[in-house]
Amino acid sequence: MKIFLDSANIDEIKTLSETGLIDGVTTNPSLIAKSGMNFIDAIEKICSIINGPVSAEVTGVDQTTMVKEGQKLSKIAPNVVIKVPLTMEGLKACKTLSDEKINVNVTLCFNAAQAILAAKAGATYISPFIGRLDDIGADGMNLISEIVEIYNIYNFKTEVLAASIRGVQDVVDSAKFGADIATIPTNILRSMYLHPLTDKGLDAFLSDWAKTGQSIL
Ligand code: G3P
Repeated sequence: MKIFLDSANIDEIKTLSETGLIDGVTTNPSLIAKSGMNFIDAIEKICSIINGPVSAEVTGVDQTTMVKEGQKLSKIAPNVVIKVPLTMEGLKACKTLSDEKINVNVTLCFNAAQAILAAKAGATYISPFIGRLDDIGADGMNLISEIVEIYNIYNFKTEVLAASIRGVQDVVDSAKFGADIATIPTNILRSMYLHPLTDKGLDAFLSDWAKTGQSIL
């Protein structure tokens, strides 16, 4: 499974990219607003840090505007992916942009019917929002499972990008259900490293090692 960062925080993206584990980045208008940065500058900067796909979301609501915005954003760097909402206008824009060989991430997906349409529109990625479904008492992970099953039956090339991840278990479950990618907030990625038994075990090893008086180097 590929790991994307769901963030527009340049410092965090830079620090976590140094792990060598980050395959891409997703942003959205809310994350850009939170970063306080100019949108174009932020995407330019993120693309200079990350070699993999970097999603930049359009803000127009009609096909023509979305396509124009997508064409402009795609010129920032070769790894920019255009994020469009899962509306009829968004899917029309997806079709046009993907016909122009521009990679598209269709976002705000909340059911499998929408995911079928996105694949038909040539989306490179579909972003089902797990956490926001769980918030309203629905089953976000079931949606991942349904989309993966349908895409496999029809051999759709669209990759399933689990979004709106709210905890480490969401990442594990997304992997179990076959999501191609999880886009993970930076704090959750950091938590993935942690286990109290790892810390406890390491303390014991280091204290026993100190008793030997040896050094490897
Ligand atoms: O980037 C889209 C998605 O991951 C947003 O997550 O936490 O705002 O529901 P959230």
